[in-house]
Amino acid sequence: MSSFLNGKRILLIVSGSIAAVKVPDMLRLFRKEDADIHCLVTKGGSHFVTPMALASLSGHPVAQDIWDESEEASIRHIRLAREADIIIVAPASADFIAKMANGLANDLASTVVLAADSPVLVAPAMNHRMWHHPATQRNIELLKSDGIRFIEPEEGPMACGETGVGRLADPLKIVSSAKSALSCQSANKNLVNKHFIVTAGPTHEPIDPVRYLANRSSGKQGFAIAAALQMLGAKVTLVTGPVHEATPVGVYRVKVETAVQMKDAVEAALPADGAIFTAAVADWRLPLSASKYKKDQDPPELMLIENPDILSEVAHKKVNRPTLVIGFAAESENLLENARSKLQKKGCDWIIANSVIETKNAPSAMGGDYNQIHIVTDAGVESWETMSKKDIALKLTAKIADYFKAAN
Ligand code: CTP
Repeated sequence: MSSFLNGKRILLIVSGSIAAVKVPDMLRLFRKEDADIHCLVTKGGSHFVTPMALASLSGHPVAQDIWDESEEASIRHIRLAREADIIIVAPASADFIAKMANGLANDLASTVVLAADSPVLVAPAMNHRMWHHPATQRNIELLKSDGIRFIEPEEGPMACGETGVGRLADPLKIVSSAKSALSCQSANKNLVNKHFIVTAGPTHEPIDPVRYLANRSSGKQGFAIAAALQMLGAKVTLVTGPVHEATPVGVYRVKVETAVQMKDAVEAALPADGAIFTAAVADWRLPLSASKYKKDQDPPELMLIENPDILSEVAHKKVNRPTLVIGFAAESENLLENARSKLQKKGCDWIIANSVIETKNAPSAMGGDYNQIHIVTDAGVESWETMSKKDIALKLTAKIADYFKAAN
């Protein structure tokens, strides 16, 4: 399975902190995502994790803070900085953060960070008193104002026996922060303050006061897209059917139940620069029975009424049509053929085809955490490998940002 980090070159700088013992776990996670990870260890860091272990787990030689004529002939510190798509300092000791804040360049690691033009992510780890010390906090504020991103340390028992804030963030969180930073980097500022409407989840169409028609949509893909757009600076209105996902931070959410309510909420949210329709909207509703159907009566004859097609209505608007309208096609067969015909019929700009049938090579789009998508446009089809819905969201929003960049 492919990942957003596939082939991305990461330089991991390990500085002197006991939390360096967690670096092997971090390396395994990055390798699992097929990242091309390289390590640079400071003298202090090498007391806690050996360069040999870092080399074995990263699969590459480890740069160290030693003077090496053969390496420096090729200006190694500049090369290391330039080659990396992202630089992560984890763990970052109080001393290393102080060096960074003051622009010191007295060893290989600090020199590389000073020469960097790629995003730099810092995951501090230190004793809680060192963390709270005004000098450390001052250094962090300075670095934040320089555009350096921090992965905040966690609270808990420390190696020294004390308890407080200063533990290295969970390696999983470091991996996901790297993905976010890389997606923001590739997308630049093209989505800042653009308004997007995203629909997500199923709709419930009531039959009587206790029963409803529904489907298996989890809403995960739409929520992930809304979160990724928000991280790129977009204003997001997320219109959701009944699902259990938590609202992404900074996203404006409108909760609805039925297709008609979803259509009204989407209309009310216009105008928008982009609209992404991931919801599995029920195609039909029923005339609502005010009283519960009873078992001792004849089975009810349920008459289906066609619901409005929200995507099609928005895409065909003469006034207030968003610049980019994207639909999803959930298909059980003839995936690309059906998707192409939906692209024409619905009048959208891109349609994202995904299968609702699990095969040997691809999971079902419904419910799970992974998916395989094909982006169908007038220009052709772009097929992506299977990846997590969160990674799809990051890659897709980077593509959307490129679209707006080209349109500007
Ligand atoms: N859609 C919509 N309103 C509807 C039905 C679908 O906005 N009433 C949107 C979905 O959010 C999706 C796209 O249309 O982006 C395609 O949905 P899909 O369920 O794949 O197809 P349908 O249009 O419902 O057609 P069919 O069920 O025949 O495949």
